Amino acid sequence: MLVISCLVLTIISSAFGLDNGLARTPPMGWLAWERFRCNTDCKNDPDNCISDQLFRTMADLVVEEGYAAAGYEYINIDDCWMEKDRSVTGDIIPDRSRFPYGLKDLSNYIHAKGLKFGIYGDYGNYTCAGYPGVLGFMENDAASFADWDVDYVKLDGCYADPVQMDKGYPEFGYHLNRTGRPMIYSCSWPVYQIYAGINPNFSSIIDNCNLWRNYNDIQDSWSSLETIIDYYGDNQDSIVPNAGPGHWNDPDMLIVGNFGLSYEQSKTQMALWAILAAPLLMSVDLRTIRPEYKAILQNKKIIAVDQDPLGIQGRRIYKHKGIEIWARPITPVYQSYYSYAIAFLNRRTDGTPSDVSVTLKELGLQYPDGYRVEDLYEDVDYGVLTSATKIKVKVNPSGVVILRCDIQPENVIARSQYSQYSPLNQVFKVRQNSFVKK
Ligand SMILES: *[C@@H]1O[C@H](CO)[C@@H](O)[C@H](O)[C@H]1NC(C)=O
Ligand SMILES: *[C@@H]1O[C@H](CO)[C@@H](O)[C@H](O)[C@H]1NC(C)=O
Ligand SMILES: *[C@@H]1O[C@H](CO)[C@@H](O)[C@H](O)[C@H]1NC(C)=O
Repeated sequence: MLVISCLVLTIISSAFGLDNGLARTPPMGWLAWERFRCNTDCKNDPDNCISDQLFRTMADLVVEEGYAAAGYEYINIDDCWMEKDRSVTGDIIPDRSRFPYGLKDLSNYIHAKGLKFGIYGDYGNYTCAGYPGVLGFMENDAASFADWDVDYVKLDGCYADPVQMDKGYPEFGYHLNRTGRPMIYSCSWPVYQIYAGINPNFSSIIDNCNLWRNYNDIQDSWSSLETIIDYYGDNQDSIVPNAGPGHWNDPDMLIVGNFGLSYEQSKTQMALWAILAAPLLMSVDLRTIRPEYKAILQNKKIIAVDQDPLGIQGRRIYKHKGIEIWARPITPVYQSYYSYAIAFLNRRTDGTPSDVSVTLKELGLQYPDGYRVEDLYEDVDYGVLTSATKIKVKVNPSGVVILRCDIQPENVIARSQYSQYSPLNQVFKVRQNSFVKK
């Protein structure tokens, strides 16, 4: 018999965020970096170099292969798109041979598909790969982005002084705002400050950025993914309260469908990113992705968790003997009761699925009339369960089981009424009892 006490605290978040009306839910799209890096060799590798053609092809596939219908919207360029030198008038210019028609033309092409266009710059003197940074040219570069009808700007932080970022990132945001064109503003401000041993001023970051990176770049491996999962779990008390509509933590790109993750591990990244209310930016070759990975990226039920209108980031509520449980409060809500997405993660390597057995009440789900429980990967509908019912899941090594538990009152407030709902943050503490059978 397990006796578990569960403490639920509710904290009212005072975060308001950047007032540009964008990213009310985490942005979704495709981003070149992790898969295509700084490949500029169009002579020998024309199909994989950073070029006009690559982005047009990916935009085509995002629409034709159903990603756009699933919610993926932004087609984002990362580093290595510029000429090494600015024009005589101080403007950044796209590489003449790799982007022969200019970026306005590419932007028009992407917009004509019903998609949006994202670009990359760097707050410092140079981008990470050595192309021109915005320092000294902020007004020019913001104006160029607006001229090209850019919808999303990622501003990296190489070759910059992290101390100056408190001033510099808001300054570039000011120039973006002054163009009059709404553009999502993605900042690398906190991660460079954390590297430099500075405690980031998150209230200022929330007021100036729509999303920001907290931790290392993702690499194409399970070990890289594990370090990110651990970082977000270990530091959740300071990270989670900063998320909400218009302002998100960004644990970096989805690497699902590449070389480094197994099928189970790919399911884990997608599920955990939904729990984390993370931006869903695929970085994968959509020409060659295998169908089972495409299905993970297009899992509508998991995307709905990621895009939940409350925008409350989830937490790791249990970690013991290699089993973790993560929970995210979602709609529908009724009175003080939330619905939840619950992810069971198996970090064990002992080669056989682990049984995890727990009641909803032990996870902090106490709504008296019960929850409708559904598995979001497998076609399993548990029906309506009371919080005292024990649920049992089998979790594969390095894999995940993700459930959605919707409260079942007769008069749940309709989802559309949630826009006024203030972002509350649930804090759980589940005692380190063992839910694991073996
Ligand atoms: C950027 O370049 C300017 C001019 O060369 C220099 O004074 C400044 O120290 C550089 N900043 C960084 C962070 O390297
Ligand atoms: C610029 O900032 C103001 C004040 O925060 C805001 O109302 C406006 O929507 C912003 N405009 C753009 C284009 O981001
Ligand atoms: C954080 O930035 C805000 C301005 O956005 C400022 O008022 C506040 O004093 C800063 N906090 C700290 C601890 O520096």
